[in-house]
Amino acid sequence: MSNKLWEKNTQVDKRIERFTVGLDREMDLHLARHDVLGSMAHITMLAEVGLLRRDELTPLLAELKRIYREAEAGKFVIEDDVEDVHSQVELLLTRRLGDLGKKIHSGRSRNDQVLLDLKLFAREGLERTVQAVCRLFDTLVAQSERYRHVLMPGYTHLQVAMPSSFGLWFGAYAESLADDLQMLLAAWRVTNRNPLGSAAGYGSSFPLDRQLTTDLLGFDSMDYNVVYAQMGRGKMERTVATALASVAATVAKLAFDACLYTSQNFGFIRLPDEYTTGSSIMPHKKNPDVFELTRAKCNKLQALPQQITLITNNLPSGYFRDLQMTKELFVPAFDELIDCLDMAERMMAQVRVNEHILDDPRYDPMFSVEEVNRRTLAGTPFRDAYRQVGLEIEAGQFHPVKEVRHTHAGSLGNLCNDRITAYRDSVLAQFTFDRVHEAERKLLGE
Ligand code: ARG
Repeated sequence: MSNKLWEKNTQVDKRIERFTVGLDREMDLHLARHDVLGSMAHITMLAEVGLLRRDELTPLLAELKRIYREAEAGKFVIEDDVEDVHSQVELLLTRRLGDLGKKIHSGRSRNDQVLLDLKLFAREGLERTVQAVCRLFDTLVAQSERYRHVLMPGYTHLQVAMPSSFGLWFGAYAESLADDLQMLLAAWRVTNRNPLGSAAGYGSSFPLDRQLTTDLLGFDSMDYNVVYAQMGRGKMERTVATALASVAATVAKLAFDACLYTSQNFGFIRLPDEYTTGSSIMPHKKNPDVFELTRAKCNKLQALPQQITLITNNLPSGYFRDLQMTKELFVPAFDELIDCLDMAERMMAQVRVNEHILDDPRYDPMFSVEEVNRRTLAGTPFRDAYRQVGLEIEAGQFHPVKEVRHTHAGSLGNLCNDRITAYRDSVLAQFTFDRVHEAERKLLGE
């Protein structure tokens, strides 16, 4: 007998099956725990509105919980002739509990089921991403403080420009991550709304209690309009992808700086030997491959919003199988980004900075503005001071005092790392992770 939920008398052609299922079963394995949790909330609600008896609910919940634990332990498989995760869970229930298993799907469609699974999956992925972002943030702030007095050249046009510092360099990327957290927070808010009950995209004639499943699953609210709930497929993924891309852009830029600064021609930072890779022909090489791959992976991740956009852009409202394709892009993205964040954190914690960069006279001209400002403060009009110093540099007679005193907010003498950290904390506090954990624990009867 066929294991398809929808197959009646005709069996689908094998080649059609291979083509339509594609990589979906592989992707769906990542959704198994979430699918089960969604079913637990759904049937609890069905019992509440009288579509399932209490004595039916109890064994179903117990069995679903067992499947959840199996998935958690990596023992959940989607069998060869089973189409997707939703079918596999229902199959296991009917196999273990008989006809009772066939009752759980009332008032639901795989369309709202997969919407829900993806949102629960994205919630978890977003939380892990936020944690990884915060680990890198903390390391960057610590390094910024540690090297706050070490000066380095600042560049415009990649030409030596003005004095900067490692305090500024590390701290800049920390603050960039704090802004990226805002993007993740917006993505969290869009994600954390319940689509369940929209069924195939047009609701149901059963008296579903959508507020109950919203509460049971720890959502902030529901996607109210059932047509909109279905339109959220692809939109949620694109929104989350945009936030991930924002983090990826920060990390890619950091990785590029690090590649540049480890080059002998800059010589600003060093990595421990264990963190570099060698060459098969040049015995002296210690290459920053980790930063290079981080840069490439993070640049690739920035294509994700566009890829999702291209798949979903020309679809009218309502469900289409096209949407399945977004999973192959979306599901692996969290692990890819978190891997880069963790690597960047490890590298940034180990990086050593050259404290004597400015001893090299090639950087002398970058103190020109300091000198102009000093003369201006002593009474020479700015434009005259600018000209004097310019002529001295051209004549090779400029000998700077290599001392800088910048005191305004955010400058090298006043990094504001405490304020940047407070800003990060204020964004972090707005994620409703705790409520989600509590709801999920309760649903699992813990
Ligand atoms: N694998 C499908 C997807 O990801 C699940 C939903 C199937 N629904 C349908 N009407 N064929 O979109």
